[in-house]
Amino acid sequence: MTTSKIIVALDFNDLEQVLHFVEQIQPSECRLKVGKELFTAYGPQIVRELHARGFEVFLDLKFHDIPNTVYKAIRVAADLGVWMVNVHASGGREMLVKARQAIQDSQHKPLLIAVTILTSLSDAEVVEIGYSRSLTEQTLYLAQLSYACGIDGVVCSAHESTAIKQNTNAKFLTVTPGIRLSADKTDDQTRIMTPVQAIASGADYLVIGRPITQALTPATTLRAINQSI
Ligand code: C5P
Repeated sequence: MTTSKIIVALDFNDLEQVLHFVEQIQPSECRLKVGKELFTAYGPQIVRELHARGFEVFLDLKFHDIPNTVYKAIRVAADLGVWMVNVHASGGREMLVKARQAIQDSQHKPLLIAVTILTSLSDAEVVEIGYSRSLTEQTLYLAQLSYACGIDGVVCSAHESTAIKQNTNAKFLTVTPGIRLSADKTDDQTRIMTPVQAIASGADYLVIGRPITQALTPATTLRAINQSI
């Protein structure tokens, strides 16, 4: 089990690229996030490959379905032995409670994280899909609901970490994407923070993709970030 707060997003759809990347780094330096692209391409086998190399895995499939289906999907994810798994908080109270129950009923117990409002949504889109609260209010509201249902934490912008912890509990985990090493390259992320800023804002884990995976020397970049925080 690593003490690193970094989760590297393996946003590849090519197995060779993934393996080439993981060969350069050590399980002590980070955890790895398998998302919908990689999982759709390679399924649970990619998770087993990463586990065989000693890495802990965040299975980022953002389950959002009827409670019974989510329960069963989480049981399978837990049996795969992943370190972290997630669901959409907007699946509702019963779904969240069932997700929690799935972990209690499993031998291996991954951390259970909720997605509140996708950070890609604008204020206008939040209104368009029918939420009456503002984006920030709805995010805090769903974080509180998740906390009340026994979820371990949320995925959020590092800008929201402090407010979420104040509205729930300091121990409620915040997992934050949108990390950039400097302000000069943002890709498609809008509200960014550097690793040092994010940790200072209370983020528990940093999800970092392209700044590491697309770096000229990914291993050196990862080590430098670990040292900086
Ligand atoms: O390359 P980058 O550092 O932007 O990658 C961030 C990762 O975090 C991607 O896998 C992206 O899908 C994910 N993510 C995000 N924003 C969210 C939730 C997840 O960027 N709100």
